[in-house]
Amino acid sequence: MASISIRDIEIRFEAFQVLQGLDLEINSGEFIVLLGPSGCGKSTLLNAIAGLIDVADGEIWIGERNVTWEEPSDRNIGMVFQSYALYPRMTVEGNLSFGLRMAGVAKAEIEKRIARAAQILRIEPYLKRRPSELSGGQRQRVAIGRALVRDVGVFLFDEPLSNLDAKLRTELRVELKRLHQELGTTMVFVTHDQIEALTLADRIAVMNGGIIQQFDTPDDVYRRPNNRFVAEFVGSPAMNFFDGTVVTRGRSIGFEVRGGPTLDLDGYAFASRPTADARASLGIRPEQISLSKSDRSVSMPAIVNLVEPMGSDKLLWATAADTTMSLRTAPDFEVPLRQPIDVFFQASQASLFGENGERL
Ligand SMILES: Nc1ncnc2c1ncn2[C@@H]1O[C@H](COP(=O)(O)OP(=O)(O)OP(=O)(O)O)[C@@H](O)[C@H]1O
Ligand SMILES: [Mg+2]
Repeated sequence: MASISIRDIEIRFEAFQVLQGLDLEINSGEFIVLLGPSGCGKSTLLNAIAGLIDVADGEIWIGERNVTWEEPSDRNIGMVFQSYALYPRMTVEGNLSFGLRMAGVAKAEIEKRIARAAQILRIEPYLKRRPSELSGGQRQRVAIGRALVRDVGVFLFDEPLSNLDAKLRTELRVELKRLHQELGTTMVFVTHDQIEALTLADRIAVMNGGIIQQFDTPDDVYRRPNNRFVAEFVGSPAMNFFDGTVVTRGRSIGFEVRGGPTLDLDGYAFASRPTADARASLGIRPEQISLSKSDRSVSMPAIVNLVEPMGSDKLLWATAADTTMSLRTAPDFEVPLRQPIDVFFQASQASLFGENGERL
């Protein structure tokens, strides 16, 4: 187990600056997910921690050591990639032991570590098989096992589940979480899948354009996104947004929806006091909107156009203030289609963003 400290690093590919002045402090034993769209710099950051890419500036510390200029093999890390990269001619056992044999670890110790890793990852029945005789999920477990036997302080994963089908992905996701709970090793996991991020992470670093947009618990990322990018990137279906203006009347603050009503924002925790008549957008998640009134809820007139039954709930697509929005209801709810209705939500659960996209 080791902490990781990324201090003001800069990474360039020739003239192209991928990361600039990036800081990240990861506690020992934490499960951190780097989440962001394709090309945002997730793999670059992970590879820099691993030592596979040099930094142009800044420092990387693992535990008490400045490893910025250390070789990957000296950093006490294990890395697992999207492609399993197993040796095809070796058995599972051979794949697991290869690195240890090269490092001159004693035979008895190698056997002990392989037995333990195989048990944790449930690959004991396959030790004598070759990679081609395994399913994708089993192969990925072997790849994880190769890092596991090395007894490292930090695990780095670059989209290890994205080559697997949906069912296997879910299974292995649960196993990774169990693995982390069992080992308590520091883990950094790259994905562009928000469900993976929300379910696995102690904290998520949401990245875009080489910049960490928010570094918070899954709950805070989901409920209190720092900016419009995070709000839009996390959540499916996406958060609903209404354009409008923040209006102040004496001590109370409201939000005048463009082409709609003025909503009382009583109960909304402003990050900073907004200026009057500031243009803004109000975001509210589909599951936070209800068709029935509750204490202190605000309301908007709407029309439901379409219903999507999802099994465990129903997704309704509606129009309110000329804006398309979605909301969730119970699966047995009888939906009034194409009639004027009211939708309700709590202002305290909403997210307001200023014109620059920052949370208000
Ligand atoms: N060796 C390289 N030479 C030049 N540019 C590179 C190199 N590697 C990555 N890049 C660029 O750096 C940016 C970040 O790449 P990176 O691989 O870190 O993205 P990512 O977030 O991992 O994306 P993905 O989800 O697609 O894997 C991209 O614009 C990419 O084109
Ligand atoms: Mg990548």
